[in-house]
Amino acid sequence: MSHFDPVNFRGHFEFFQQNPDWVYLDNAATMHKPTAVLNAITRFYQRNNSNVHRGAHTLSQNATRAFEQARDDIAAFINAKDRQQIIFCSGATAALNQIAFGLMHTVLQPGDRILITALEHHANIVPWQLHCAGFGVTLDIVPLTADNKIDQQAFTRLLALQPKVVSFSHISNVLGHIQPIAQMIQQAKKAGAITVVDGAQGIVHDRIDVQLLDVDFYVWSGHKLYGPTGIGVLYGKTELLEQLKPIFGGGEMISEVQFSHSLFNKLPFRLEAGTPDISGAIGLAAAINWLQKFNTNEIKNYKTMLLKQFYNGLQAIPGLDILSSPVHNAGIVALNVQGEHPADVAELLNQQHVAVRGGQHCAMPFFSQLGLAGAVRFSFAPYNTEVEVATSLQALAQAVEILTA
Ligand SMILES: Cc1ncc(COP(=O)(O)O)c(C=O)c1O
Repeated sequence: MSHFDPVNFRGHFEFFQQNPDWVYLDNAATMHKPTAVLNAITRFYQRNNSNVHRGAHTLSQNATRAFEQARDDIAAFINAKDRQQIIFCSGATAALNQIAFGLMHTVLQPGDRILITALEHHANIVPWQLHCAGFGVTLDIVPLTADNKIDQQAFTRLLALQPKVVSFSHISNVLGHIQPIAQMIQQAKKAGAITVVDGAQGIVHDRIDVQLLDVDFYVWSGHKLYGPTGIGVLYGKTELLEQLKPIFGGGEMISEVQFSHSLFNKLPFRLEAGTPDISGAIGLAAAINWLQKFNTNEIKNYKTMLLKQFYNGLQAIPGLDILSSPVHNAGIVALNVQGEHPADVAELLNQQHVAVRGGQHCAMPFFSQLGLAGAVRFSFAPYNTEVEVATSLQALAQAVEILTA
């Protein structure tokens, strides 16, 4: 029996009071921010605005304390062993670029292999591609099964090639499919690989315990977890973070600069060049502290209920190709209206004030394999309601009727 109260939860978001006529189902792109986050950011700028780490004055010390407290809160949230394992960056994309750049310049050697999957967001493809050719490193791709899941047998086969790095998403941003990451991490570790998990969607769905997972890197973006844009988290094992070559230089990341050379600062600062997104970190900590007032399992059950309602409703709409499986799904449904471009469907939904995304969702290789122009993606959050699910189904039925008339 769920005690989750969706009306109460939704009440924390001013967006819905300001936009009562919109159904927002583009949560995989970015989520709305609760009042607790908006207040934390405003309060910082109104009362405390100063740069961190460098100022001798009290205001700067206060800002530094709040910023570093945010790091502590985030470390506790994902059960990192040590606060220095939390590197602030601008988001999952920045984190993956730092990891790819850092490993290429240190750990990887010509002839090495990296393994990713056919379901990755561009942010977990391009950063590796940028360096592979130049460093003589090969990028292998795990194919998908007919129902668009990662082919676990092929994964096992490709691990036999002994990749140095295995990098995959926790949850597909296109389909919502939840990957068996605990098992995949263990398999990759057994094969001797460094494990990287793109948690941009995963952190939203479940509580993450990085020690339990024993993952080497887990990265995410704040804005997909009720936090502000421009802030993200690169979690890494200390010995690996210490080896990563910094992608950016300047600011607090150095301990000594000469014209001949520079010495880098200790973690976490060596990977945080320039003035960090101070209000972003404070806002993100406010988001997770607020979120922890709610029960994760109850939220998951509620989202599953919305998903089930949506899938049931889809059965009554003719001419749909549904790409997502409802099993092990985090609340994302990608579909197409047969013979119609996803952008046209998304626009017809937009005209009915249902916000969804139509297109390739930064997963062009996935859609190329399927020979599709893209898909329309409905992504649900716990602030969505059963009435909104019904409205979106009506709007989709209406769009199908118009397109197929
Ligand atoms: C699975 C996945 N990885 C990476 C990203 C990139 O996130 P960001 O643009 O916040 O860096 C996204 C964003 O949609 C995503 O869904």
